[in-house]
Formats: sequence, structure tokens, C-alpha cells
Amino acid sequence: MTKLLVFADLHIQNDPIIGLDPVARFKAALAHALANHMDAQGIVLMGDLVHGVTAVEYEILKSILADVPLPITYMMGNHDRREVFLQVFAQAALGSNGFVQSAFDLGEWRGLTLDTLDGPPYLDGVHSGRLCPNRLAWLADQLDQAKDKPVVLFTHHPLGDIGFPKMDRIRLENGKDVIDMLKAHPRPVHVLSGHVHRTVSGQWDGISYTGFKSTCHQNPLNLRGQYASMSVDQPGAYGVILFDGPNIIVHSEDYALAQ
Ligand SMILES: [Fe+2]
Ligand SMILES: [Fe+2]
Repeated sequence: MTKLLVFADLHIQNDPIIGLDPVARFKAALAHALANHMDAQGIVLMGDLVHGVTAVEYEILKSILADVPLPITYMMGNHDRREVFLQVFAQAALGSNGFVQSAFDLGEWRGLTLDTLDGPPYLDGVHSGRLCPNRLAWLADQLDQAKDKPVVLFTHHPLGDIGFPKMDRIRLENGKDVIDMLKAHPRPVHVLSGHVHRTVSGQWDGISYTGFKSTCHQNPLNLRGQYASMSVDQPGAYGVILFDGPNIIVHSEDYALAQ
């Protein structure tokens, strides 16, 4: 059995978000995870690492993680900026194409993390994701290398619609291209994403998907309104993923409620 810990949408900054302290919340999530899951192979931080995209925020994150004894894989979200992140995390894994992407084994599975941040250029107010041809080519190459393995794909932005208009308009814009590539993979594929700040699961055209809560603030379910609903103070969570032979199981732990 191989175990992996995932944390989505940390949104680290010094100031509160809807009255919540993202630093304290992430520290609490991390402490709970390390107290209960030190047998994990590693940690994936699934993007929106910081909120306001300053080097100071990445430095805060770096200091929180300084004593974590597990390997950490970083991902970019729409609230991140690759160049600022790399100023602080110069050792972060990069794909051969210079984006914040990586490939690693998880038992029988191959894990692939994609950098779905749209840009550069980064356009003001754009929170949807986009993979440029360079990143799509990297994914195609990685899937080819893993053709004898089941694949778990990590993307900050969901690949397809989830029936939640506010989030569907800022999902991965060319997610269908990725879904089509995954459908061609000869072994099972599962997709893990952040961005939605809710626990959600389903399938797009046969490709299974799980989305995670934020460690900090959550997104009230509103399947009708396009622009309504601000974030809410509901319990944060982190994910515990189990890889057991050909099987994958995804747990979500509301750390503040857990014993
Ligand atoms: Fe987020
Ligand atoms: Fe996001």
C-alpha cells in the first residue's frame, strides 16, 4: 500500500480571508496529517499555494514547510505566478519544458502533475486554466512513457464542467484535449484537482475525477447563480490517497473535526 497526502488551495497570505487565517489553517491541516500519516510517501500541494502572489507569501509557505520530513511536490494554480514561486522555491521539480510539472511512481501507478496556470502572459482577472502546446506535448510524452501503468493526473483546474456555473466558467479551458488524451491511455486513469474548494467526484466521458476542499475557505454549493456566493467558513480538509496494486482510493479528512 502506498499513501500520498494532498493539500489544495492553501491561499497563504498574512491577512485573513473572510476572517479566516490561511496560515493557521494550513499549519493545522499539516500538523494533523503528519501526526496521523507519517507513513505517507510524500505530499502534493495542488496549487493556489498563495493568495496575493508575492514572494513574501511564498517565503511564509517555505518556512511552514521547512521541517516537514516528507518529499513535497508543488503545483501552480490561478493564484500563483510561476516566476515568483521559482524565486523562492528554486529547487522545485520542473518538467523538462520549464513548467512546474513532474512525474513519479506511486506503487504500480504513475503520478503526473500538470501546470495549468494560464500564461505568461498573465491577464488581469483570468482565473481559468490553459495548457499551451508545450505542456500538452509533455503530457503526451509522459502518458506514452507510462503506457503500461495506471495514471493519476493532478491538475489544479478541473478538466470538465461540474454543473457549478461559477466554477465551470474558470475551469481548464482546453480540458477536453486532456480528456481525449486520457481516454486513449491503455490503462486506468484517475484525475485529482483543486480550485473548486469543495469535495466533488464524478466522471467525464469515462475519466474519473475527485476534487478537494481548500485547507482554508470553502465554496458554498450554488448550482444556479452565475456570480453569487462568496466563500464560507466551513471545515477545511486535506486528502489521503491510497494506492493498492491496481486500486486507488481517495479520502478527504476534515482535519478540524477529526480526533
Ligand atoms: Fe483556490
Ligand atoms: Fe484556483
